[in-house]
Order: sequence, then structure tokens, then C-alpha cells
Amino acid sequence: MQQEKLQELLADMSLPEKIGQLVQLSGEFFQSKDISYGPLQKLGISQETIDLAGSVLNVTGAHATKQLQDQQMAKQPHHIPVMFMADVIYGFKTVFPIPLGLGATWNPDLIRQAFRTAGNEAAASGNHVSFAPMVDVTHDPRWGRTLESPGEDALLNSRMSAAMVTGFQTDLADKAGQVSCVKHFAAYGGVESGREYNSADMSLSNLYQNYLPPYKAAVDAGCGMVMTSLSTLNGVPGTADKWLLQDVLKKRWGFDGILISDYSSVYELVKHGFAADDRDSAMKAINAGIDIDMKSPIYANELQGLVEDGSLSEDKINQACWRVLELKNKLGLFENPYFGTSEEAEKKINLTVDKRALARKVAAESLVLLQNKNDVLPLTGTEKVALIGPYADEKSLTGMWAVHSDPADCVTIKEALQEVLGERLTYSKGTDISRDKEKLRGLGFLTDKMITQVVADDVTEQKHHDEALKNAQAADVVVYAVGEHSFEAGEAGSKTNLHLPDNQVNLLNDLHGLGKKIVLVNISGRPLVLSNVTDKTDAIIQAWFPGTEGGHAIADVILGKVSPSGRLSMAFPYTEGQEPLYYAHLSTGRPQDGSQHVGRFVSRYIDAPTAPLYAFGYGLSYAQVDYGDIQLEKGQLKAEDTLKFSIEVTNSSDWEQKETVQVYFHDDVASLVQPVKRLVDFKKVVLAPHSKQIVTFAIPAVHFSFYDNQGESILEPGTFHLFVGTNSEDVTSVEFEIRQ
Ligand code: BGC
Repeated sequence: MQQEKLQELLADMSLPEKIGQLVQLSGEFFQSKDISYGPLQKLGISQETIDLAGSVLNVTGAHATKQLQDQQMAKQPHHIPVMFMADVIYGFKTVFPIPLGLGATWNPDLIRQAFRTAGNEAAASGNHVSFAPMVDVTHDPRWGRTLESPGEDALLNSRMSAAMVTGFQTDLADKAGQVSCVKHFAAYGGVESGREYNSADMSLSNLYQNYLPPYKAAVDAGCGMVMTSLSTLNGVPGTADKWLLQDVLKKRWGFDGILISDYSSVYELVKHGFAADDRDSAMKAINAGIDIDMKSPIYANELQGLVEDGSLSEDKINQACWRVLELKNKLGLFENPYFGTSEEAEKKINLTVDKRALARKVAAESLVLLQNKNDVLPLTGTEKVALIGPYADEKSLTGMWAVHSDPADCVTIKEALQEVLGERLTYSKGTDISRDKEKLRGLGFLTDKMITQVVADDVTEQKHHDEALKNAQAADVVVYAVGEHSFEAGEAGSKTNLHLPDNQVNLLNDLHGLGKKIVLVNISGRPLVLSNVTDKTDAIIQAWFPGTEGGHAIADVILGKVSPSGRLSMAFPYTEGQEPLYYAHLSTGRPQDGSQHVGRFVSRYIDAPTAPLYAFGYGLSYAQVDYGDIQLEKGQLKAEDTLKFSIEVTNSSDWEQKETVQVYFHDDVASLVQPVKRLVDFKKVVLAPHSKQIVTFAIPAVHFSFYDNQGESILEPGTFHLFVGTNSEDVTSVEFEIRQ
């Protein structure tokens, strides 16, 4: 539609119609004879609000969306199409690993392809906007939503963020992509003590340096929408933070797309004690810049009154409504309200062989080999393998947020290993994911009946246990697949105990007693505490929730089809008490190494190591890769210069190896204390067997700046240390200087 026509449309719309465009409701509000969403008016909104709603949350499927589109357009006075928005967070029907695993690939190009694929599938099923990427940097794995984040680091998350947005939006012009909605603005990942919906309180320097960059990367990559956070930042709820939404996002970063609140967060402003009543909530949210109110009655019930009594100018509503109409117009919905929706396309493009192959590749790159004593892995494929454990033949490999997929489409570890090992593989469940009914009840999703399906009776459990030991006894190697329940991670999955469940550890102890080689495969949505299992196992593979093709990817690594190349996107703690634990912590006056104080009076714990069990960036491979010295082109540069350097990386093995060369730095002296190390660049290179490669970098000096507490980026002259290596701890270093 021409801009003038769109303006005419806006001018012709009534106030309730315009407000309707700012209201998003979920599927259950819309009645239809074929779609049984049911008449749920529990929000206290009128039928007119439902009829005029401008967008719909989490209804997908070509049939359902087309029908709902027809129904809503018929009801709207100007027949304005609705926009369908959904949580397509790491795949649609073909599910990729959880974002924490995607971060562990350190391969933004690959992730761009994954998101393009997810966008293609979601578009065919009628969806227009995806509520992703979620790029909240997090330092605390107690937070359940760690699962949805690419990790603990601003740069890694920023690169992933840009790749995800670009991937989603690549095929938009062909009606085969998704408008990307980055979330949750801002610093939701910084919630204190990892407790869900808690508040974040931090210096502006920390905010700008560590939390804001990934959202900015999404904005720079052209994301069409931004979702605010349910949490508060420095005392202000994300949904009403005028400074954040107006000054930072719009003015400073130039974002001109749509701002949407998170689920019911406008309504929650009263609960926060930030608004006096619903009317006040509406005022605060619209004045902060929220265009669409997701799943709350506030805009629907309050905005009209505020305009009519002169408290709010109609122009505010017009501006927000215009942004919504503009996006609908950009998508071409006025001409073709179905966008890329098609039942045929849906059948043809979902879960194709190619998409599964991509999911397998991504999953294999996300796996992190944490331990491999005496090169127990890879297996040759001739061993007798006892596959044991609650995740050995489990289809739930997609994690909590893969809400549009069917677990039945997942390839289990057993199915995949059997393809290669055939008769040489035995299987036994060994034990349940959890035997703790109270804990399972606390997850909030499982009915008592479902719990009895998760927790076997004692006789069955004993049978599984005995069978596991018998199979292990007869095998050369045990593959033990364990982990947390998929509902333990994800939204509202915060927890304080990050150990594997006792029943899983008890069985491991019994298996260890048999003296067999043990390969532990850990399925989890967060870093777990594995310090109590390292000495009972020979190899450990961190497998996240690896997605639809997870079983194949795990088998590919176990059997040496690929050499693992995943590197941790978040540190694994030695114990929960170390959290929040992250590599880029500030220098202290009494570092454990290098202080004039010895023994007690240094920055450390008296009962645990200071360092993590596995550091950020860590991961083993089958290949032997060695790093040479850093070759700096010039050791002194000016602020406008670029630091150029290279490093020789040697693969002296028979394996082809993907190696992530990680570059960190430390600003030796600054007017604000700086992190001991900060990631400033990385490259994932492919090393042929028995080859050397000179990996080169060119980093503009401004990238060695830091943010002050006014949010200004400053580059202070002086000496710096550059670190290059295979993870945040194993590095070689060199000094350089930036001069005025
Ligand atoms: C989550 C968002 C999500 C929204 C819609 C909220 O509970 O915080 O991440 O996009 O629901 O499903």
C-alpha cells in the first residue's frame, strides 16, 4: 500500500480501532468453529477488544492462522489483517540446540543459516514475527533462562544476536522469513541471585559494557521489533523505562521499529509498585514508548479514557498505531494477508532432509567435550557399548522453549547409536530423570499422572538398575546419558542446586564400581556442577538440549565422525556457591595469584577453588592443536589505528579440526577498574589434518575502549595486554600500547 493510502487509513480509523492495533492477545481469546481456542475472557476485556486486536500470540499452523486471519479481518471495520507473533526461539519444527548451545558453536555464520531455516518454516506456518533472539547476557546459571541466552559474554552474544536477526529476516521479501523481535530489553539476565523475575541493579558502565551490546547488535542488524523485560533495572521496570527506551534505544541507537511489552508486564507495573493503578500503568507504558501491550487488559481498557479526558494526546496513539500499520504494510499484509502461509509449503519445507542435516551439523558443533581421559573417545565403532541412562532413549531433546515442535520428531541417542553399532549396542534406562516427586511437582507443569510416568515404582526402578549393571558388565564402554528434566530450565526454571539428581549420581557410582570406561553425556539447559562426577567418568560431553537431530550429533562425536569443536559459552562452576561466576570479572586489589598477601587474605573462597571447573571458551577436541606466539605488526598505535597481528595454529593430528581462535585483552591502567580479560574478537577456522594456518586479525583500536558511568565509550592511552588462545585461560600474551 502507498504511504498516502496508509495515512488515509490511519486518519479514517476510530480511536478504539487504533487502540486495538496496540493490543496483542493469545490464541485462546479467539473463538472459531474449527479452532477450539475457547472463549477466555479472563482478562476482563470486551468482545470488541478481541475483535479489534491487532496481533495474535503463539497461534501457528497454516490452517489455523488463515482461518483466524479471515475471521478477524471480517470483524475489523477496515479489514486490517492481524500480525501473528510467536516464540520461535531456536527452531520451529526442525529444532536446533538451545541458544546456550548455539553460543557454544562460536560459529555465527552457521547460526545465521539455522535462523534462516527456522524463519522459513515459521513463515510457511503463518507466523510473521518471532520473539527472538533472546540475547540477555547472564552470569548466573541458577537463572533458568540461561537456556535461551547465547552465553555470558557481550561480544559472543552480540555476534550471535546479529547472525540470528539476519538469518530470520533474510527471506522476508520473499515472504519466507520472520521479523525479528530482540528481547528482553534490558539486562533481564542480570537479575540478582538468578531468581526469576527478580531485579537487576548495576552501574551504567557495567550495563553499557556487558549487557547492552547484544541488543544494540540486533538493532544494528535491522531487527523490526524490541521486547522489554519483565524485570526492573536500577529500580525501573523495563516496560516503563523511559530513559532506556527513549534515550538509549531510540535516540542513541536510532531504533524506529515497534516496542512490545513482555507478557502482561504493563499490567504488572502496579504489582511492582511503580504505578498506582491500571490507568497509571497505561500512561507510564505508553509514555515510555511501548507500542503493543502483550496479553494484558491495560491498553484495551485504559487508553481510550486517557485520551478522552485529555490526559493523553491522541497523537501518541496515532504514532504507535502507525508503527504497527507500517510493519503490516512492509510485510505486504494489506495485499496478501496470508503472507507466506501455505498448507502445501508447510508440508514440503518442514523437517526436510536438508534441514535435519543442518540441525545435525549445528548440534554437533554445539557439543563440548569437557573431559577425555586417555583418549577414551572417539570409539572405534567395534566396541560393545552399554547405553544407559534416562536420556539414552529420550525424545525430549528440544528443551522448554521449542513450543512449536513435536518431540516425536527427535532422534534419540539410542536410535542414532544403533544405526552404527547395531547388535553391539545394549540399552537400559538405568534410572529415572528424577526420583523426587516433590521437585517434579514444583516445576508447575506436571500433573500427578504425568509424574507417575516420570517416576517409576520402586520395583521397576530396581529392574532398570539391575539391567544397567548387567549390560555394563558385558560391555567394553558405558555411555551414560543423564541430565536435568526439560522443565527445570527455561522461563521460571531458576534453581539453587545445580548438581545432577542423586539417583543419577548413585547409579554412576555403581557403574564406576564395575571398572568400565564411562562416557557421560550431560543434557542440560545450563552449566551444571559436574565436579562430583569427573573422577567417576572417563569422558564428559556437554550436550545441552541438542534439538531434533541431537541423537545423531551425539553419536557423530562419540563415534568420531566429527571431532568436537564446541567451546563453552558460559563457565561451568566447581560449586554453586561460586555463582555468579564469569571470566570477565574486574581485577581485585588482592588477586589470588600475584598479591603481596599470601594464604588467607586474598580474593578467594576458603572451601572451594576461585576458578571454575571449566572456563569460558573451554572445550577439547580429538585433534592436537598448538598455538605459536602472537606476531604483532606494530606494538604501538594511535586511537584511529588498527591493531594487526597473527598467530600460527598447528594441527598435528589426522583429524580435520574446526578451531576457535579466541582473542582477549586487558587494559593495564584505566580510570575505572577493568576486567582481567575481555573477549575482543574470535575466528573459527578449519584446519586440515597435519596443517598449519596463520590466522590474522585486524582490530580497530577503539575496540579497546570501555564505557564510563555516563555511558560514554572512552579509549584511554596506555599499555594493554593482548591474549590469544583456545579458551579464556589457556592463552599466550603480548603487550601493546595505545598512544595519544
Ligand atoms: C516470555 C517471553 C515470551 C512471551 C510470549 C513471556 O512469558 O518472557 O520471552 O516471548 O512470554 O510467549
